[in-house]
Amino acid sequence: MNHFQYKNNVLHCEEVPVADIAAQVGTPFYLYSTETLTRHFKAFDQAFTLPHLTCFAAKACSNIALLNLFGKLGGGADIVSGGELFRALKAGVDPRKIVYSGVGKSEEEMRFALRSGILMLNVESHQELETLQGVAASLGVTAPVSFRVNPDVDPKTHAYISTGLAKNKFGIPIDDALHSYLAAREMKNIDIVGVSCHIGSQLTDVSPFVESLQKVKVFVERLAQAGIHISYLDLGGGVGIRYQDEEPPLPAAYAEALEREMQGLACTLILEPGRVIVGNAAILVTKVLYIKQGGKKFIIVDAGMNDLARPSLYDAYHAIQPVVQSSGELEVADVVGPICESGDFLSRGRKVAVCAKGDLLAVMSAGAYGFSMSSNYNSRPRVPEVLVKGHSFHVIRQRETFEDLIAGEVIP
Ligand SMILES: Cc1ncc(COP(=O)(O)O)c(C=O)c1O
Repeated sequence: MNHFQYKNNVLHCEEVPVADIAAQVGTPFYLYSTETLTRHFKAFDQAFTLPHLTCFAAKACSNIALLNLFGKLGGGADIVSGGELFRALKAGVDPRKIVYSGVGKSEEEMRFALRSGILMLNVESHQELETLQGVAASLGVTAPVSFRVNPDVDPKTHAYISTGLAKNKFGIPIDDALHSYLAAREMKNIDIVGVSCHIGSQLTDVSPFVESLQKVKVFVERLAQAGIHISYLDLGGGVGIRYQDEEPPLPAAYAEALEREMQGLACTLILEPGRVIVGNAAILVTKVLYIKQGGKKFIIVDAGMNDLARPSLYDAYHAIQPVVQSSGELEVADVVGPICESGDFLSRGRKVAVCAKGDLLAVMSAGAYGFSMSSNYNSRPRVPEVLVKGHSFHVIRQRETFEDLIAGEVIP
């Protein structure tokens, strides 16, 4: 359930007509619904009954207004860079609720994380562990560590967002991970606190989650036999959403399946949901610039692959709806952006509402990996982000200017 609904044929975000916002902030822009974000966060978080911590995956959508909202709802943050740590702290997220994943943390990023007092770093290689030991020693602190294990489970999702197969770069193969724990135990500045695992994104079936948890559970038992007892089990994110006709598990079914497997494990569960919280809580609003009939029909809009990369990157489906419904007539067309790439499209060869120059279109389900993956390609200023709450809206990120584009550049 989301709060983007038509009222008298006009798309509203909660109580605000989308066209009113477009008239004030211009197009394109990302539009988020506070009510939907809150509802999704709570539905996920409250589905778990065992001791747990929901760390929102900042990479899915990293605006500090959203991180702040989830923090206020009791959540933490899953980060993958120093920049995301900076954002989470600026947003007021409690550092003791921040977990840090990623295969390539730099020493500088490790220092920042240790100085900030985050909950744990999910270490992904032996060299990273040695580096972290060195950084922690130089700061005179102890680094709280969990190893990210790779369970070699097929998440049955797009290859680019599959992370838990042996061929993926992520984590330490689960069969080798005991060595890492034993080595870590001997390190003076490392404190082993957990085990983590994240197998991929946009999973529409619970069975790969269960399969990986079963493998992790066996591993946790092996650790216990070796005298290593952990406090946290981080199962990552990955629950999918409906973009078109997918049938992802409901949070309750997901939570129940995990909790069933968790029986007998005395540790706090950490979850890192991203897409399932924000995916359907935002749209990208764009305007039709031109309509062109060549070998086929093109609807040229003012949002491009730099603003929403998913269709070009993953051939991902996003529904495209008119902001104001008129005849209801449909036609086959490509909805394309202004970028100088043939791969710049929002949809291809699909039936879309017949529209005219100047019409507003809503690209649905754009909240996850939407703005956060946007870029300045073709020197296009990044678009604003707007957050609706009830009858009012706030620009939570200004539209970039041409000056912003060259900030930091110099002619020698
Ligand atoms: C380590 C980690 N945790 C959590 C997530 C969030 O995944 P999702 O947005 O599918 O929930 C990701 C994204 O791939 C990730 O790499």
